[in-house]
Amino acid sequence: MNTKYRKAIIAGNWKMNMLVSDIKPFIEELKPMLPKTKTCDTVLCVPAVNIPAMLRAGKDAKIACGAQDVSSYDKGAYTGEISAAQLADVGAKYCIVGHSERRAYHNESDMDVNSKTGKLIEHGVSPIICVGESLEQRESGLTMPHINYQIRAALADVDMTGLRRCVIAYEPIWAIGTGKTATAEQAQEVCGYIRSIIREIYGARPARSISILYGGSMNAKNAAELLAQPDIDGGLIGGASLKPADFATIIAATGADNE
Ligand code: 13P
Repeated sequence: MNTKYRKAIIAGNWKMNMLVSDIKPFIEELKPMLPKTKTCDTVLCVPAVNIPAMLRAGKDAKIACGAQDVSSYDKGAYTGEISAAQLADVGAKYCIVGHSERRAYHNESDMDVNSKTGKLIEHGVSPIICVGESLEQRESGLTMPHINYQIRAALADVDMTGLRRCVIAYEPIWAIGTGKTATAEQAQEVCGYIRSIIREIYGARPARSISILYGGSMNAKNAAELLAQPDIDGGLIGGASLKPADFATIIAATGADNE
């Protein structure tokens, strides 16, 4: 983490968990455990129907609210979809795009990820763009070409101003929900590589400023080591973000203190 040039972000991804009635008790339990001075932005990406309740409950605790997906269309006859304008309207500050679960179960393509990213930028919502390789790709030595492709595809036509809104999350598919975390070295290697791609496309300054997160079985025990890596600026956390004590420990691991 290098907080001199970029902000640390700890984002929980609740996936399809929690009810509206769980939110207030969760935040009430979490709040007293939060470090007094947070050196990171804290975000909870919740199911869309829970966004208003999370915004109300999270305000005092300074927890921003994010969504988990957005439509790649502006508006109209797209039953079941939620637009970037609607997310911005309700107050969502972040939105995950291209999560591997959406790529796998909803056939989300790199083109979809690119158009969703564009719509979010247009409406002032920060996209958290997820990239990551499968175990098969890693074992065949295809991690870096795959990441290179995913990053360039997601950011096609995103200009320098748009990039300032973007956050990248490296989530190796084999580490998600498996308890099998990438080692700090493996995670650093790919996050550093992602920064080098940003440098190639946009130059040194944007590469230095963009926050790159690691996700995949990050938890209260391994967070500090992962966050100590120079190119890992935070985490995108699934399972451990459902437990207030674990989530608070991860936030504290960004170097936030209790002065
Ligand atoms: P886990 O932390 O449960 O492995 O999930 C990671 C993830 O998919 C966050 O988006």
